[in-house]
Amino acid sequence: MSQTGVRIAAVGHYAPEGILTNEDLEKVLDTSDEWITTRTGMKRRHVSSEKQATSDLAIAAARIALAKTSLTPADIDCYVVATVTPDYPFPATACIVAAQLGASDKAAFDIEIACSGFIYGLTVASSLIRSGIYKRIMLIGAETLTKIVDRTDRSTAILFGDGAGAVILEAAQSDCFLSSELGSDGSRPELLRVTAGGTRYPLTPAAYEARDQFIHMEGREVFKFAVTKMISATDVALQKAQLQKTDLDWLIPHQANKRIIDAAAKYLDMPEEKVIVNIHEYGNTSAASIPIALSEAVESGRIKSGDIIVFVGFGGGLSWGAVTWRWAA
Ligand code: ACO
Repeated sequence: MSQTGVRIAAVGHYAPEGILTNEDLEKVLDTSDEWITTRTGMKRRHVSSEKQATSDLAIAAARIALAKTSLTPADIDCYVVATVTPDYPFPATACIVAAQLGASDKAAFDIEIACSGFIYGLTVASSLIRSGIYKRIMLIGAETLTKIVDRTDRSTAILFGDGAGAVILEAAQSDCFLSSELGSDGSRPELLRVTAGGTRYPLTPAAYEARDQFIHMEGREVFKFAVTKMISATDVALQKAQLQKTDLDWLIPHQANKRIIDAAAKYLDMPEEKVIVNIHEYGNTSAASIPIALSEAVESGRIKSGDIIVFVGFGGGLSWGAVTWRWAA
């Protein structure tokens, strides 16, 4: 098998039109704009309509990315969707996305590793290209988390939003993928999970009564884990790429909590202007948050050719990961 490099040829993102503000939440929950803003940095979230499923958002983001190139959907060899909110338990949402785009004979699969999904997806998709198996892959992080959130639970209902971000990865002479560090610890799945609906706890009337079809999270525990793993994963990814903290131009972190991002940025000595943050606008969109942030940063012209980026995320599993990347326009 031949060995080649990989680059991101185009990015795109899509967020549904529906908006849920902190003021909207104040009206239905025992919470306040002040609490949400100071504890999370969130102000608004985008919310999908009843008719919109995750594939609809993924397709919209993919079309926007494709429109920035001269490629057609058939030019993409493989479609990958990172999501914990698939259209169905199976088939994979990626199959639906590829078919709806008009590329139904292509390889397609989902990655389900919660908020770390884009980091895992970037590692897997880059490896498939660097090994010569595929020339082009559409990697999409897409979520409709507002559909699996308990709207009566103030500790989670305020956190999540919907959206999708897509990147088109393609073979390149010069390699933009510099390193990856992935990890997981499944010893305490109860810290962050949807309890019912799988084979361990089927969706029974009792499960509905206990509201176990929704996201459950031990926020404080996840917070501590998140800060530790953001820092250690970034450190190891930088070491693997033989880079120093000072080589970094951009930190693009998973957008779960502004305080978690600030703690990681402080450790990395990254000034605020070098950390991409859009949590105020989207809330936590799980696997979609990093590609949406990347897409906005590229669109605004902030990221330049040659810049070194660390993408870093963590989430359910528990899971975590960081990828170092050199941007090539
Ligand atoms: N409004 C007002 N008060 C609230 C709210 C709210 N929305 N939610 C909780 N509180 C209260 C609590 O009841 C508690 O009150 P008490 O002291 O009387 O018991 C108090 O606020 C403090 O609660 P904590 O849970 O300690 O608040 P904390 O500062 O930890 O913030 C938060 C909570 C925002 C959830 C934080 O813990 C967090 O961001 N955790 C990490 C979340 C995360 O990163 N998730 C990862 C990925 S998600 C995925 O993978 C799908």
